[in-house]
Amino acid sequence: MQRLRTFLDGHCDNTAVVEIIDGLMVACKDIAYRLHLGSLAGVLGSAEQENVQGECQKKLDVISNDLIKDCLAAIPSVKGLASEEEELPVACNASGEYLVLFDPLDGSSNIDVNVTVGTIFSILKAAADSDAATEAAYLQSGKQQVAAGYVLYGPSTLLVLTTGDGVFSFTLDPRIGEFVLERQNIRISETTQEFAINMSNQRFWLPEMQQYVSDLLQGEEGPLGKRYNMRWIASMVAEIHRILTRGGIFMYPYDSRDPGKPGKLRLMYEGNPMSMLVEQAGGMASTAFENIMTVKPEGIHQRVSVVMGSSQEVETAISYHVKN
Ligand code: AHG
Ligand code: MN
Ligand code: MN
Ligand code: MN
Repeated sequence: MQRLRTFLDGHCDNTAVVEIIDGLMVACKDIAYRLHLGSLAGVLGSAEQENVQGECQKKLDVISNDLIKDCLAAIPSVKGLASEEEELPVACNASGEYLVLFDPLDGSSNIDVNVTVGTIFSILKAAADSDAATEAAYLQSGKQQVAAGYVLYGPSTLLVLTTGDGVFSFTLDPRIGEFVLERQNIRISETTQEFAINMSNQRFWLPEMQQYVSDLLQGEEGPLGKRYNMRWIASMVAEIHRILTRGGIFMYPYDSRDPGKPGKLRLMYEGNPMSMLVEQAGGMASTAFENIMTVKPEGIHQRVSVVMGSSQEVETAISYHVKN
C-alpha cells in the first residue's frame, strides 16, 4: 500500500506542487464525506442562485467551491485561484508561485439523483510579475499546465493525477482517511467501440460532426465498419474516467445553441486539465480542428469544443472536420 503523499514525494520533485495537491485533497475528502451523507447533511438541492455562466448553482456547487477556496488559500505556494463558480480570480499568497484553476463540482446536475460527480483541477506556474487578482495571470495555454487531475465521487472516491510524467490513480480508503495508489501509468486503448455525446444537441452541431455521429450509428453497415455502443452520464469526470479505464471517445462539440460560445465545457476548468490527463495516458484531445491545449485562452470562463479519448477514434472524428 502506498499513500498519496509518499507517492508524490518520490514521483514529483516540485515540493510546492506536491503540497498543493496534497493540501487540496483535504477539501476533496470533506466534499466526499458530505456527498456520502447526502440528504442527511442537508446539502442536496438548489442554492437558488446562478453562477457567472448563467447556470443554476446547486448547494453543493457553492459548498465545494468554498471548501476548496479556503483550503487552497491556506497553502503558501498558491498565489491565486480561479473557479467555475467565481466570477473573478482570487489572489491568495503574494509569495506563492502557482495558480490553481478548478471545477469544484463537475456533473452537479447529477447530485440530486445520486450519480457520480467530481472535482477537476489544473495547476499553472504564475509569472513572477503577474497579478493573481486579474484574469491575465491565468490566461496560459493548456500546454503550460504543471499538473492536472480530478477526484471522482462515485461508489468509491478516486484521485486521478498527472504531474507531466504519466497518469496515476488513487483510491480513498475511508478507514484511514488516505488516498492509496491504485493504478500506475494508465494508458488509454488506441481503438474503441464506445462513444459518448449528448444526442439531444444533434441539430445544433456542425454538419461534419452530424456526419461522423451518423456514421457511428450505422455500425458495421456504415463506412466505419464496426458496431458502437453509447454512454452519456452527464458528468465529464465519470466519462473521462470510463475512457481511462476501458477506452472510448467523449465529445461535447461546437454547437449553435448559444452564438459566440464554442460548446458548453470550460477550457480552463474542464478542457485543459482533462486534455493533459488524456494525452499523458496516450490519448488525444482536440476541438476537432486543433489540439485543445494549444488554444490561446481569452477569458477564464471561456468555452471550448471537446473531442477526446482513444487516439485512433479521435483522429477519425478530426478527419471529418478537415477543411479542404
Ligand atoms: P458542471 O456540472 O461543472 O457545470 O459541468 C457539467 C458538464 C459536464 O460534466 C457534462 O459532460 C456536461 O456538462 C453535461 O451536459 P448536458 O447536461 O448538456 O448533457
Ligand atoms: Mn456548473
Ligand atoms: Mn464541470
Ligand atoms: Mn461544476
